[in-house]
Amino acid sequence: MARTANDSRPRIGVLISGRGSNLQSIIDAIASGRLDATISVVVSNRAEAQGLQRARDAGIEAVYLSPRGYPDRDAYDRALAECLLARGVDLVCLAGFMRLVGQPLLDRFPKRILNIHPSLLPSFPGLDAQRQALEHGVRVTGATVHLVNAELDAGPIVLQAAVPVLDDDSVETLSARILVEEHRLYPEAIGMILDGGWSIVGRRLVRGARV
Ligand code: GRF
Repeated sequence: MARTANDSRPRIGVLISGRGSNLQSIIDAIASGRLDATISVVVSNRAEAQGLQRARDAGIEAVYLSPRGYPDRDAYDRALAECLLARGVDLVCLAGFMRLVGQPLLDRFPKRILNIHPSLLPSFPGLDAQRQALEHGVRVTGATVHLVNAELDAGPIVLQAAVPVLDDDSVETLSARILVEEHRLYPEAIGMILDGGWSIVGRRLVRGARV
């Protein structure tokens, strides 16, 4: 998967904090030809993130960037941005990255940062979205891929998938069914964003050529 000088595919940088199953779905989509892109780097803010090993196993550069090495949030975000820019990243994909993205990163990748969230936003932003949905008693929840802005889980929505909540669901069973949809949805949304032909109108991401 290492990029060569003649590899003209768009370059993705993936930010993770843990398991990395969504990272794996992107790796798999590229390997099977469903997504025309290359992952230039995977960065984690946690040393123990399982996703770092997934990256190495796929021959992708894996970087642990400790927040402790920086005086404040902005300094860390600048370091993240530098790491991604140095590798020519075109699109940043947050995949279980458990930090708010700050302005230094947003400014360097305008409309070029995606996130996946395990609910139908704007319902249940933040932590434990599956538990929030279950406890609220909704009959349908799901997964959302959205562009990242300065607010938590609030940027323009790219794609969503609905998942029914069953009477006997636990947080674990519901999360597992949502995750299946996440793994299908994220590569598709990345492909859509990379293909272009979309624009932001108000809060909406609208597809189709605009003159
Ligand atoms: C996923 O449920 C994702 O929607 C959320 O964090 C979880 C990350 O899982 N943002 P993984 O690390 O991709 O397995």
